[in-house]
Amino acid sequence: MTTTPASSDVADLSLAGEGDRLISWAAREMPVLRLIRERFEREKPLRGLRLGACLHVTSETANLAITLRAGGADVRLCASNPLSTQDAVAAALTADHGIPTFAVRGEDSVRYFEHVNAVLDHRPHLTMDDGADLVAELHKSRSELIPEVLAGTEETTTGVIRLRAMAAAGALRFPIVAVNEAMTKHMFDNRYGTGQSTLDGLIRATNVLIAGKTVVVCGYGWCGRGLALRAAGLGAHVVVTEVNPVRALEAVMDGYRVMPLIEAAPQADFVVTVTGDINVVDRHHFEAMKDGCIVANSGHFNDEINLAALDEMSTGVDQPRPSVEAYRLRDGRTLHVLAQGRLVNLAAAEGHPAAVMDMSFANQALCAEYVARHHEELEPRVYDVPLDIDGEVAALKLRAMGVGIDTLTEEQRRYLASWESGTS
Ligand code: ADE
Repeated sequence: MTTTPASSDVADLSLAGEGDRLISWAAREMPVLRLIRERFEREKPLRGLRLGACLHVTSETANLAITLRAGGADVRLCASNPLSTQDAVAAALTADHGIPTFAVRGEDSVRYFEHVNAVLDHRPHLTMDDGADLVAELHKSRSELIPEVLAGTEETTTGVIRLRAMAAAGALRFPIVAVNEAMTKHMFDNRYGTGQSTLDGLIRATNVLIAGKTVVVCGYGWCGRGLALRAAGLGAHVVVTEVNPVRALEAVMDGYRVMPLIEAAPQADFVVTVTGDINVVDRHHFEAMKDGCIVANSGHFNDEINLAALDEMSTGVDQPRPSVEAYRLRDGRTLHVLAQGRLVNLAAAEGHPAAVMDMSFANQALCAEYVARHHEELEPRVYDVPLDIDGEVAALKLRAMGVGIDTLTEEQRRYLASWESGTS
């Protein structure tokens, strides 16, 4: 199937062959999504639905989009970040899979939002977001389309925070399932995915040895836990900064040093943000950093590092390597920022490996099916992923990995449901 280039916007359609090879390579590690696709092909649970998706356009996302299409959805896709698009994959989706894609790596903000609007022009019944730009734009600028929207899903922590704020303000006008909240999503994608892909991004961007370096991890949510674990595994001295006392305590007991960022900054070789918040690394932190420090963000938006302040402190910016910007400060120090403060794991590497995206996107596909079936019972608020979907994804993943587990005996089932027997 071929769609005309006019109904899409990708960098170069002639890259489609390369994109198809990348999509097939990722598919080898996505057995759960494959099983779902096979069932979707038979049952067509999304038949007749227009689905607008704003996701990182990667080979893993391509496998999700193809699954949704197999389920009968009419899918349109745009990027959820200007720097995360794999141009070859965007070409393949458009040219070979009947999924008009609007995504060009390196697009500016104007083109980025033109692409979001091109997906909204599709008048989606279902939305699928990673960061909530699609839903926010729909509510802010295209609200005439809302009556046709049945429901949506959201992939990431930052997007869920944003959507909950919308719901709390009474602004959200259709139900959203927070895929991020599935255990089979955040315990694996956020932890092992972000852990590995962020280190991958730091290393590809800089080729700096991690062993012996001090890596400051800002934020000890699931992403921060994974990043700290993998940095320590490569021999870094890991320092964690937090605002939440429970998480800070957990980081202490996991064996890391915990302190305010202003104390950590002078020791840091790397500072990496994974918080979902704004200006986590601010002017006074830059002032405290040592010469050569490398600063990166692996949270969803490029707000976590105050680059405007760094710009004001600088006399100029050099580009020593493709994803590295070297800010020359007035006092003679140089500070390095990776991937313009955008999520370093997707901008300087390829995002999470397919084996974890398999579970995240299995949740997405099953939640799309769930909202297609149940939207009439749902209110305009943010819902957790139904527990049986979480359980199904875990069971399918274990089966695909060839891992068997025990089952409760009848006696154990009765025991767990009783209260009479205690100390014997
Ligand atoms: N988010 C993080 N890694 C990703 C990937 N490989 N594909 C899509 N979204 C992602």
